[in-house]
Amino acid sequence: MKNIVILISGAGSNMAAIVRAAEREHWADAPPRGLGARVAAVISNRPDAAGLALAQAAGIATAVVDHRAHPSREAFDTALAAAIEPHAPTLVVLAGFMRILTPGFVARYAGRMLNIHPSLLPAFPGLHTHQRAIDMGCRVAGATVHHVTAELDHGHIAAQAVVPVLPGDTADTLAARVRTQEHLIYPRAVAETLRNL
Ligand code: GAR
Repeated sequence: MKNIVILISGAGSNMAAIVRAAEREHWADAPPRGLGARVAAVISNRPDAAGLALAQAAGIATAVVDHRAHPSREAFDTALAAAIEPHAPTLVVLAGFMRILTPGFVARYAGRMLNIHPSLLPAFPGLHTHQRAIDMGCRVAGATVHHVTAELDHGHIAAQAVVPVLPGDTADTLAARVRTQEHLIYPRAVAETLRNL
C-alpha cells in the first residue's frame, strides 16, 4: 500500500477531501477509482490548525512541527523531514501548507510532492490571490495543483479548475467558489500522480 503524508497549516478541507477519496473504494465517477493509497499522517506547522482534529477523527496519525520553535528554515525543514520519514511517504501533499520550503527539502521529495494553489497559475503566485484577481478585473479564477519545485508556485501543472468571477464577488465569496473545485481536482490529481509512482 502506498503512503501519503499531508502537510497542513489551517482548516484542512483539502486534506479532508483527500482522506475521503482514500477511504472510498470506488468513486462514483470513473476513472480513477479510489486512490490506491492510505493517508499515513497529517502534519501541521501550526498547533492550532483545525485540520488536525479532522484528521484525528478519521483515525489518522497527526503531528505538529511548529516553525516558531526552529531558528531557521533549514532547521524547520530538517525537523519536518524527520516527522515525515517514519511514514515512508510515496507522495507528500501540501494542502493549505503556508510555509516556503528550502531547496534541500524540495529536492528530497522531487517528483513526489504536490501543492494546491488558489489561482490559475502562472497567474497570481503568492498570497491574496482572490483579491488580486478581482482587482485585475479577471472574468475567471480557479485553482492549480502543481508539482513542487524550488521556485514558489512554479512547478509542472497536474490539474486546474476554472470558476467565473461574478459581479459583486469578494475575496471570500470567490475563495468559497474556488475551494469547492479544489476539493474535486486535488484527490484526482493525487490519484493520477500516485499511479506513476
Ligand atoms: C486552499 O484554498 C489552498 O488553495 C490555499 O489555502 C487554502 C487551504 O484551505 N493554499 C495556498 O494558499 C497555498 N499558497 P484548506 O486548509 O481548507 O485546505
